[in-house]
Amino acid sequence: MASSWDQVEEAAAAVRRRCGALPDTAIVLGSGLGDFADTLLDAVAMPYGELPHWPAAKVVGHPGRLVIGTTAGKRVAALAGRAHVYEGHSLATVVFAVRVMGRLGVKRVILTNAAGGINTGFAEGALMIVDDHMNLIADNPLVGENDERFGPRFPDMTEVYSKRLRAIADEAAAARGVAVTHGIYAIWPGPSYETPAEIRFLRMAGADAVGMSTVPEAIAARHMGLEVLGISCITNLAAGVLPEPLDHNHILDTTTRVRGAFISLIEGIIERI
Ligand code: HPA
Repeated sequence: MASSWDQVEEAAAAVRRRCGALPDTAIVLGSGLGDFADTLLDAVAMPYGELPHWPAAKVVGHPGRLVIGTTAGKRVAALAGRAHVYEGHSLATVVFAVRVMGRLGVKRVILTNAAGGINTGFAEGALMIVDDHMNLIADNPLVGENDERFGPRFPDMTEVYSKRLRAIADEAAAARGVAVTHGIYAIWPGPSYETPAEIRFLRMAGADAVGMSTVPEAIAARHMGLEVLGISCITNLAAGVLPEPLDHNHILDTTTRVRGAFISLIEGIIERI
């Protein structure tokens, strides 16, 4: 299990030795969205395997590297690939990278993901600014003894996704001509996709999108006092909304299609942050 204070500090020190100027913002890139990392200038790329205690990212569409570089004149850390609960990792391991970013000194994290659209008003390929989340995995990365150096025992979750950053995302979207929508993201454990009955349940509960990531990282980031922004790429309509079965390749096809808009939106956000 990687996530103790000492392991996080060791990894942060290893990154600091290699990364040049320190980043202010970290961006976790979801399935198929890793290409943003290639757009950074003056970049230093660190494959996860070269960093101490770093969990490997193994899913197709998750190459597994940390790239620190510059966009819009700002230094950012792009994390292409993340550890998921469904790979069998503990939640402490899932949030390791975000904690390292916090200890590296970033002020904010942008968490992106591929998600299924539950809201029937959503079209495939839509980009959704996350207004709030529902933690439906019956676990929490902060379970266990609390290390006060990371944050308090009972952190407030009233505004997980910063109003300020959501407003900046809306401004950037308008300026760049990228259509965005807003909604509530629910995490479901996976790796099997949801059933149509589960999707009806999630819709009744008020979720607009469902995925298998982001929520533990958002909780750990808020625990450390970092500002958080969440962006979901609605790669497919959730199970049962359309008559077709769900397929990971289709999800990656959608992320390839929205790649340009996604990168432009992220650049616009960084520019304004
Ligand atoms: N469900 C869960 N996770 C997902 C989906 C989905 O429909 N699409 C992309 N990630």
